[in-house]
Parts: sequence; structure tokens; C-alpha cells
Amino acid sequence: MGTPSAAGLAERLARVRAKPLPRHVALIMDGNGRWAARRGLPRMEGHRAGVRAAERLVRFVAEERLVPCLSFFAFSTENWNRPQEEVESLFQLLETFLRERAEEYVDRGVRLHVLGGRERLPPSLQEAIARVEERTRNGTVLQLAVGINFGGRWSIVEGVRRALALGAEGQLSPAELDEARFSTLLPTAGLPDPDLVVRTGDEKRISNFFLWEAAYAELHFTPTLWPDFDEEAFLGAIEDFQGRVRRFGRVSP
Ligand code: FPP
Repeated sequence: MGTPSAAGLAERLARVRAKPLPRHVALIMDGNGRWAARRGLPRMEGHRAGVRAAERLVRFVAEERLVPCLSFFAFSTENWNRPQEEVESLFQLLETFLRERAEEYVDRGVRLHVLGGRERLPPSLQEAIARVEERTRNGTVLQLAVGINFGGRWSIVEGVRRALALGAEGQLSPAELDEARFSTLLPTAGLPDPDLVVRTGDEKRISNFFLWEAAYAELHFTPTLWPDFDEEAFLGAIEDFQGRVRRFGRVSP
């Protein structure tokens, strides 16, 4: 496929805007390694290209004010099982991303949240996370959540831990705990539930990303490798979402 013309993209955008848009698109970015291998490049070059694709998408979505929330699964609780060298390089890459994008995101009104357990992360990465979250805290154009050492099961256990702590302090009884209250105790509290989960790289799995939050999300799987996932591919995912009938357990009208 050649590069689409700006006019073509604008027309497609207008068509997409005419229908209900998701409030939160969650992205499982798979295929960086294969993208690099196909070019005879080291895996880290694939991850670097992956960061560029994420940056480009954030810019597009923020500029177009297309959806109010995007999330990226950058490093899962299972990714610790990769070779130590790759883990360390990924953390370095993520730290550079956070430090280099902070100013741009303040200017664009992008508010960055990092989801995941921080205590095991390198101290300099923890520091970069705290700094970018603090600097971007007034952003209202786009909520950008990045999962680093994140897992859906970890997140639910965090919620249970908080519920138990409140219970022990006498501030929460079992009868008071319902789905809505539990959602407020999760690390994702404050973000809308994802309406659309996209996975690139030709695998059809959720891989322990949002488990509680994605209960009613539409799923879009594409063979496109993450570094090639561009604006057109994003619009394609939204068009797929807009073609679905969302019943939330009800019968069809
Ligand atoms: C999967 O590719 C990708 C990851 C493990 C996540 C890393 C993602 C990035 C570096 C992009 C960073 C994103 C942001 C928001 C800054 P893979 O290595 O599993 O690919 P493969 O299946 O082809 O080997």
C-alpha cells in the first residue's frame, strides 16, 4: 500500500468522526522483533521503531482529538522472562521515551499515567515516571496510559489488596463492595474502560492486559506488525469497531 494522500486521510477521518467513537483504545503492540528480523536488524531496532510508531500515533490522536484515552502495553509482568539484556534495553528505551516526550506532552495537553508495579523497576526509570506524571498532570486532551510491569491479574490483586486494607480499617464492608466500588480501587481507576482492544502482530490473545476493564471491549486483531501500525491502520481498527453491534448482554434491537 502506498502512502495515502492527506486528502484521503482527511476524508476517512471525517467518515470515522460521523459515527460513535471509542472512548478508550487499548493497544497490545506485538511484532517488533519480527519487524526487525525481516530487515536483518537486531531486535532492539524493532523496539526503537515500535516507540516511533507509538509516538506518531499519540501525536495523531492528540492533534485530531480523536479519542480521549489511549493505552499501550509496553512491558508486561511476563516480559521479565526475556533475556536480561533485552529487559534492560527496553527499560532504557522507555525511560528515554518518557524523558524526551514530557515537554511535548505538556504542550499537547497529554496526561501520562504509568500503570504497573514500580518497585522492581530501575530507580532512574521510577524517577522518570514520577517526573512525567507530575509534569503532565493538568493535561485534558488525551489520557495516555502506559503499562510497564503491568498485568491484568496484578491489577486485580492490587484492587483486592486495597479493598482488604480498607476493610481492616473499618472503611469498607463486604456488603458495600460491588463492581463500581471495586473499579475505583484498581490502578486503572479514573480511566474509562477500553471500548476497543487492538492487538497487532497476528496473535489472537489478550496476554493478561486489561482483564477486568476489557469485559465488554470489542477486540481487533491485525497481522500488521506494530512498527507498521500507522494512522490508517488505527482508523481501520476504529472502522471495524464501528461496524460491531454492542449489546452488553442485551438482545439485539
Ligand atoms: C512486542 O514485540 C513488543 C513489546 C515487548 C513491547 C515493547 C514495546 C515498545 C518498545 C514500544 C514502546 C511503546 C511506547 C508507548 C513507548 P515482540 O518483541 O514481542 O515482537 P515479536 O513477537 O515479533 O518478537
